[in-house]
Amino acid sequence: MTAPLLEVTDLVKEFPVRGKGIIPRNTGTVQAVSGVSFALQPGETLGLVGESGCGKSTTGRAILQLHKPTSGSVKFEGRELTTMSNKQLRPLRKDIQIVFQDPYASLNPKWQVNDIIAEPLVIHGVEGANNRGAAQRRVNELMELVGLNPEHRSRYAHEFSGGQRQRIGIARALALNPKFLVLDEPVSALDVSVQAGVVNLLEELQERLGLAYLFVAHDLSVVRHISDRVAVMYLGKIIEMGEREAIYGKPMHPYTQALLSAVPMPDPKAERKRQRIVLTGDVPSPVNPPSGCRFRTRCWKAQDICATEEPKLERRGGPEGTLSACHFAEERAVV
Ligand SMILES: Nc1ncnc2c1ncn2[C@@H]1O[C@H](COP(=O)(O)OP(=O)(O)O)[C@@H](O)[C@H]1O
Ligand SMILES: [Mg+2]
Repeated sequence: MTAPLLEVTDLVKEFPVRGKGIIPRNTGTVQAVSGVSFALQPGETLGLVGESGCGKSTTGRAILQLHKPTSGSVKFEGRELTTMSNKQLRPLRKDIQIVFQDPYASLNPKWQVNDIIAEPLVIHGVEGANNRGAAQRRVNELMELVGLNPEHRSRYAHEFSGGQRQRIGIARALALNPKFLVLDEPVSALDVSVQAGVVNLLEELQERLGLAYLFVAHDLSVVRHISDRVAVMYLGKIIEMGEREAIYGKPMHPYTQALLSAVPMPDPKAERKRQRIVLTGDVPSPVNPPSGCRFRTRCWKAQDICATEEPKLERRGGPEGTLSACHFAEERAVV
């Protein structure tokens, strides 16, 4: 095994909760990310999946140091990022980029595409960025790379469709030749009909450029084809992680089983037999998460031990490489 590109260990990010009033006082803490650990190899894709509010974006942002982690370690190519100053982080920011969910919000509509894509080159003082000819050539190259017509470089972001705008966001993220991209729900805001095109593009780019991805999504269907491994998050914690085939074929954790039961099956026979597991109750508040296993309040397998003893994320039988945080983890036939 090669040395990991990225190594995240016991990552914690808490936000203070401020009460309302003339002098807002801190009334508690949101545990957005509560001890997340995983490693990513160069060129690998880890799909990070879970319901809205479970801490996926905060994990991505804490890795990039856009949110300073409360505790834990983030190592990129062996270097610890959490203790670096902004100045020390600056050169590393070229290697680690992010693509946001909403191309409408993340691109300035008053800018020409040309300027949007060239901006990282200018910010990082890349050689030739202020040379119009050289910058232009690089923008053209990037536009072609993501399947946009370079002749459209003087157009404004609002003149493009949603899928094209996300391609602009991807071109911009690639401008500095990064090694690793956090893709934060890159297709969730797009029509289903254009989602596959953008995911295929990301796959092609990965192959050509050797990129590693942390691909965030709120359901298991989007990351199915692109992920090498998948991590499932619930209330700030990874509750299951494993190879793609194992997670989709032999999920061990009840929450993964429930999420998977909501995903349509490609095989029509399997699809007819698919049994939906409907979770009851709401996701508990991350300000005051349940004791023991955080999923227990919605789990049909919960026993007394689940309230008193937090299940560790570890191998619990099942496929090799699958780690599950459930006292009663077991394989369940998906159909
Ligand atoms: N800047 C912030 N200040 C306070 N709370 C936040 C902030 N960002 C996220 N949170 C809270 O942290 C939790 C996780 O949010 P987030 O990481 O955005 O989840 P996801 O991306 O999985 O939907 C949520 O409860 C959210 O309200
Ligand atoms: Mg999010």
